[in-house]
Amino acid sequence: MEKEEIKKKYKLKIKKINKHNKLYYEDSSPEISDAEYDFLKKEIIELEKKYSYLNNSKSPSNSVGFKPSKNFEKFKHRVQMLSLSNAFDREDLVNFEKKILNFLNKKIQFDYSVEPKIDGISASLTYINGVLTYGVSRGDGNEGELITSNLKTIKDIPNKISNSNIPKEIEIRGEVFIEKKDFQKINYKFANARNAASGTLRQKDPRETSKIPLKFIAYTYGYTSDEKFKNQSDFLKELKSWGFITSNHNQVIKGIDELVRFHQKFETKRFDLNYDIDGLVYKINNIELQKRLGFTSNAPRWAIAHKFSADHAYSEI
Ligand code: IVH
Repeated sequence: MEKEEIKKKYKLKIKKINKHNKLYYEDSSPEISDAEYDFLKKEIIELEKKYSYLNNSKSPSNSVGFKPSKNFEKFKHRVQMLSLSNAFDREDLVNFEKKILNFLNKKIQFDYSVEPKIDGISASLTYINGVLTYGVSRGDGNEGELITSNLKTIKDIPNKISNSNIPKEIEIRGEVFIEKKDFQKINYKFANARNAASGTLRQKDPRETSKIPLKFIAYTYGYTSDEKFKNQSDFLKELKSWGFITSNHNQVIKGIDELVRFHQKFETKRFDLNYDIDGLVYKINNIELQKRLGFTSNAPRWAIAHKFSADHAYSEI
């Protein structure tokens, strides 16, 4: 194919993904399935890898989300809220590990913290002296919307943490979602449970938010004044002791074979869960190693989302 033709094809795909980003992040009404979206994203990234002259600031490899809406005050994240790279098969996982080992420049053994990838809306909760002070949406990853009052209506989110163990300041991150049974009651209004959660959370009036039973599962942190966790799995335990809900499917697993086995089992098990998940997240468990690996422009090098096979995610519920 001619260079100009490739550029044209690439630009069209960028235009298309940005249209769907707006529909998803700003209007909460997507027109394509998650699988179709992931496929489009993968096509763009593959074109960029193959043809190094392709580059666009609006490419999914340079951005993680969408600008915050004008309805809410903006809030700059102290630590960026990034995205995760995707793996679809064993080969992607092998490449992921290879890149890690290359980056670290030596052979090293590590465990993974394996967690369900909850298909909701991520939220950031800053606790100062144990008091929930700022609740923010992800927005474009740099700046989110200040939605503290709306987040405070969620029962799973503690307003105050009295455990003396909590750092003076810590930003807890997790997923806001609607359980499948609750979504059934309002599904006439939204395409899927995630859009329902997004729409509900971003109501201008917190009383409207409180009418829908939103849930929250915590899984990571952004800024913290006191970093004392050795492993991600220790941090998840700590979260529980502070009163957060964490997934009871979280596991520590070693090696790609075990990851793949666990993923295969979960492909069907996910339908028994009372909320939607669209994959598993594998995070290097050791936080020191995570720090050494750091981030690319839009995702951590130390984590990957292993997606489930496409399409039947919603139809079998
Ligand atoms: S960790 C730097 N853990 O997936 C990456 N994310 O595609 C931090 N998500 O924005 C995210 N379950 O909304 C993490 N157990 C989990 C997750 C999870 C769902 C979402 C989250 C994030 C998106 C990334």
